[in-house]
Amino acid sequence: MSEHDHGDDNRRFPTDDPAVVTCGLPYANGDLHVGHLRSIVAGDVFTRALRSVGQETAFVCGSDMHGAPIAVEAEQEGRSPREVALEYHETYAEQFPQFGVEFDNYGHTDEPENVELTREVVRALRAEGHLVEKEVKVAYDPTTEQPLPDRFVEGTCPYCGERARGDECDEGCGRHLEPGEIEDPVSVATGEPAEYRLREHEFFRLADLQEYLQAFIDRLEGTANARKQPREWIFGDLEDWCITRDMDWGIDYPDEDGGHEDLVLYVWVDAPVEYIASTKQYSERVGAEAYDWRAVWGEGPDPELPSGEERGPPGRGDIVHVIGKDIIQHHTVFWPAMLRAAGYDEPRAVVACGWVTVDGEGLSTSRGRAVWAEEYLEAGFEPDLLRYYLTTAGGFQDDVDFSWERFRQRVNDELVDDLGNFLYRSLLFAHRNYGGTPEADVSEDVRAAVRDAVEQFRDGLDGYEVREVGDAAVDLARFGNAYIQNNEPWNLDDDAAARVIRDCVQIAKAVTVLAEPVIPDTAERVWETLDEPGSVHDATVDAALETPPAEFHEPAEPFEPVDEDHVADLAARLEERVAESDTDTETDGATGAESETEDMADTADTDADVEPLTQERISHEMFQELDMRVGRIESAEPVEGADELVRLEVDVGVDRRQVVAGLQQLHDVDDLPGTRVVVLVNLEKAELFGVESNGMVLAAGEEADLLTTHDDAALGGRVR
Ligand code: MSP
Ligand code: ZN
Repeated sequence: MSEHDHGDDNRRFPTDDPAVVTCGLPYANGDLHVGHLRSIVAGDVFTRALRSVGQETAFVCGSDMHGAPIAVEAEQEGRSPREVALEYHETYAEQFPQFGVEFDNYGHTDEPENVELTREVVRALRAEGHLVEKEVKVAYDPTTEQPLPDRFVEGTCPYCGERARGDECDEGCGRHLEPGEIEDPVSVATGEPAEYRLREHEFFRLADLQEYLQAFIDRLEGTANARKQPREWIFGDLEDWCITRDMDWGIDYPDEDGGHEDLVLYVWVDAPVEYIASTKQYSERVGAEAYDWRAVWGEGPDPELPSGEERGPPGRGDIVHVIGKDIIQHHTVFWPAMLRAAGYDEPRAVVACGWVTVDGEGLSTSRGRAVWAEEYLEAGFEPDLLRYYLTTAGGFQDDVDFSWERFRQRVNDELVDDLGNFLYRSLLFAHRNYGGTPEADVSEDVRAAVRDAVEQFRDGLDGYEVREVGDAAVDLARFGNAYIQNNEPWNLDDDAAARVIRDCVQIAKAVTVLAEPVIPDTAERVWETLDEPGSVHDATVDAALETPPAEFHEPAEPFEPVDEDHVADLAARLEERVAESDTDTETDGATGAESETEDMADTADTDADVEPLTQERISHEMFQELDMRVGRIESAEPVEGADELVRLEVDVGVDRRQVVAGLQQLHDVDDLPGTRVVVLVNLEKAELFGVESNGMVLAAGEEADLLTTHDDAALGGRVR
């Protein structure tokens, strides 16, 4: 329970404890789009993969019902926020299963369980002395006399000067903004300048938890972005966090002493608590013997138990949060601080996927700049195809630029030609000639290949590399295709042919088991063809090496290729919507900083792995024009206002250069000095967030792996 040991930080899955996987709760204020689906499908894939290795786990989520955007929409439609939010909630609950996303519990934040748990957490924060009351400037609409919290107000970001909304600099530096921080506030509803008035609010003194958070972030597992990005805040000054709002819609601030009856809790207080509430609902439905929510989340604020320092070291549940990269701060700073202060166990991992963009820009629900879940289903494609595309379209932390044509290519080249083709031809051959699995032993080579694929799958899982999990099956199918090709069973005598086909059937079965997390419906159909008992959803990776049934059914092609004209139509419609939305620039999340880094050594938002080699050749002269030198990073510091950028001083022998690079989320900034790098020194100068960049530091792949030298080439030495 609360006494998980921390000595063995990289325990592999399965662990002896029950786990829980959660997905970032979608706001109940717009239709689901492929952006939401990327993070949520990733959670589903991760959960299924955990179960394949025998990990007991729950998979929970819910709708995020509160917050200003929902109140704004309801007001515009003259309806109650609850009614509006519930309508979206119902739609989400119906749509997720249509994408093969099967939550054990899908609740919402306005349910009594969540209201109760949230208020309990806030009471605990107060009892532990972490809350302070402070006067802050709150934006008011001077005509209606109404307070304008969060997204009710827009203005200028005090950090980067970009246009921002009240709670977040969504188009600039991506920062969370506190009430009163935004400059030149304007009411969203009336467009009139807002005025600031002083109001009393409750603040959570995060600095009380600073030491704890510093140790926590060192323990945290998950993707590199989630482990690195928060360090800047956790090791800097932790500001007090305002946890109340002047609104009607939300959970009432638990105000036993009076005076604050009119305040509700900030949406980011009650939203993550739904992770606990949803787990609890599941636990109560199946019974604590089957799944005990307390075994994962710990005791919580029990007044009978010691508090604060006396409580001893924090417990760590096998809690894995899967989210999009825009909400890393909430999950690695605010949320663990709340959990710790309220006596709950801390998360083991935060897994944050890159953004889905269209034409390189963020999606926008309100502007219709998106590919909708509904639209995909109406187009008649199988859910598995989108699951595959979203899971493997680029490195997990990379942004993925959605395109219907790339969707078609990947489905046709990889699912149809590699995976589908292998399953079909090997099972068809086996069925025609042997009525099922031929009697023979599996060769050592094939056993080894299957074991390697299982290992790749497990490594992907333990390393929180969702794409690796998805790739394991496709890579094995490619091996299978080559195996058939090289052995030409149609040219062999009976015994030898039987042995090759026996091998292929084993590979097919292994591919099916390993593919299940990403393409569960297809895997189930192949499982039925193989006449395997039970469901592939309950099979574990051990089944990959177990003998398939001696007799099975005639296979069908597992996938239908995607038609070129069909996607051209969809692409044209998308293009039209994008053109319309381009007149406005509002997007759903923090992507603005990305475009700033495009011409940097930052490769974090390219499809590096899938991009075909460039066909066009360049001349030797052209190559000579690139002046690349060996350099050494002398100093590194984050660029103020930018989440990804670092200002580097690089010694390039003859000269010392200031270079801005998008390394902040992927490297420990403090570790950079001393690193030898390769610098493109004759690149035109650029200015990023007001800082001049004079050159480019070369890096490779999704984690911006810095290029270096292996012997002692002198600083300033030319790279050719
Ligand atoms: N309600 C908050 C999350 C609260 S979690 C306690 C929220 N909602 S959201 O609707 O904006 O996003 C829901 C999830 O989808 C989040 O994990 C978010 O990061 C993810 N994504 C939303 N749009 C996305 C893309 N365009 N691309 C990738 N993931 C995105 O944030
Ligand atoms: Zn900003």
